[in-house]
Amino acid sequence: MKGFTIWFTGLPCSGKSTLAEKVEEILLERGMKVEVLDGDVVRTNLSKGLGFSQEDRDINIRRIGFVCHLLTRNDVVAIGAAISPYRQIRDENRRLIGRFVEVYCKCSLEELKKRDVKGMYAKAERGEIKNFTGVSDPYEEPLKPEVIVETDKETEEQSVERIIRTLELMGYIPPEEREEYTKEEEEKIKERLRALGYI
Ligand code: ADX
Repeated sequence: MKGFTIWFTGLPCSGKSTLAEKVEEILLERGMKVEVLDGDVVRTNLSKGLGFSQEDRDINIRRIGFVCHLLTRNDVVAIGAAISPYRQIRDENRRLIGRFVEVYCKCSLEELKKRDVKGMYAKAERGEIKNFTGVSDPYEEPLKPEVIVETDKETEEQSVERIIRTLELMGYIPPEEREEYTKEEEEKIKERLRALGYI
């Protein structure tokens, strides 16, 4: 089994860490070696001391990308889960890593503010946190992500299934029978990957 990187990107509370963990679980069950690099965790060690200016975010994302690159070339599945708001740096990581599957966790701002797990959207709106992504700092949507999960419209299970199925269809992991999957949904994934030139 060759390594690859799954790169989750999206606004705060959009589901990146949750989905990364679920996908990790499935891949571990299938006997793969997996490492998750979560923005919140990385910022307590590898990126400790970095803030949220564009420059610091870029350094953070390049660091995560570099570790994903090292893991991938050693046949580990690397999973990155950070906001990674700037398209250019995500694409830089894509080029560096090569075997790269971008998952855009898409969610309306309205729903994100409702979730607000850590109360940060509320603080950002009151001006207590500066440069908060989605409120007072930019987020550049990916133009050609392999997967878009709409976490305000589909269940966690549906999102996870689509990610796993995409990995199978792209040949990153061996296919496995799963009853959760309809032919129609599978055709939609294939159509998308074909249109983007990924298969
Ligand atoms: S990134 O922009 O460099 O990719 P990363 O994913 O590592 O961000 O970290 C985001 C986490 O930092 C959020 O989950 C949130 O808990 C915290 N955080 C603190 N300040 C900010 C801010 N200004 N913008 C976004 N996230 C912030």
